[in-house]
Amino acid sequence: MDAMINGTTLYYEDCGCPAGTPVVFVHGFPFSSVMWTDQLKAAGDRYRTIAYDLRGLGRSEVGDGQYTLEGHVDDLLALLDHLGVEQAIIVGFSMGGYITLRALERNPERFVAAALCDTRCEADDNGGKIKRANAAAMVKKEGAGAFADAFIPAVFSPAALAEAGAAVDLVREMIAATDPVAIAGNLIAMAARTDTCASLADIAMPILLIVGEEDAITPPQSALLMCERIKGSELQCIPAAGHMSNLENPQLFNRYLLSFLQRVTQG
Ligand code: MLT
Repeated sequence: MDAMINGTTLYYEDCGCPAGTPVVFVHGFPFSSVMWTDQLKAAGDRYRTIAYDLRGLGRSEVGDGQYTLEGHVDDLLALLDHLGVEQAIIVGFSMGGYITLRALERNPERFVAAALCDTRCEADDNGGKIKRANAAAMVKKEGAGAFADAFIPAVFSPAALAEAGAAVDLVREMIAATDPVAIAGNLIAMAARTDTCASLADIAMPILLIVGEEDAITPPQSALLMCERIKGSELQCIPAAGHMSNLENPQLFNRYLLSFLQRVTQG
């Protein structure tokens, strides 16, 4: 379905059990809601599952390519308003996790629990910002296929890369289908994002952290730091998985996610 949100068209799916607790899934960069296919299937029996494509990505409109994390949070909250959802559980992966962390800082009253998957609270350091600037220039010159070639080796474990299975193909397809303007725009949005580490101590809701043991983009140390700062949070590590932990080991990822959802919706 399409919705007009903050002056742009966003694609979303509102599926699962209509009477269940709403769970909103926020994907990573530069992917789409398709990355959640296994999780939506697994959670759909009990929960109202909402997955959408961030501005510029998947089937959402590209617009002018000038994005910010603040704008992504505005879109998330406006989509929840559009769907009549006052409060949801939120599941954010990587850039979706950056959006989730900022949304929890800005509007904690809209959420009852959160799963932060392969993400981090630290903003980019200078080296990270320069890398994003170079990648933005590269994708505009060489295209999304070239960006995928450079990006994929960083987001999968060596074993997943050697296997070159369906997960790698899916990530390549998602990236190749993305407009370079949206890739560059979201790189700049991530480079300009705020650091959310200081507000972790204020989070007062159940939090699940999931990280691939071999995640080189948002490493286990970053997940551990968040776990130490968020009171009562739970950290689960997916052995032998890289950054794309939900695609590399969907069985284990779903087991951790579903048991968390069950726990926070009980009673
Ligand atoms: C993502 O998976 O969303 C990105 O790789 C995150 C990042 O580049 O910081």
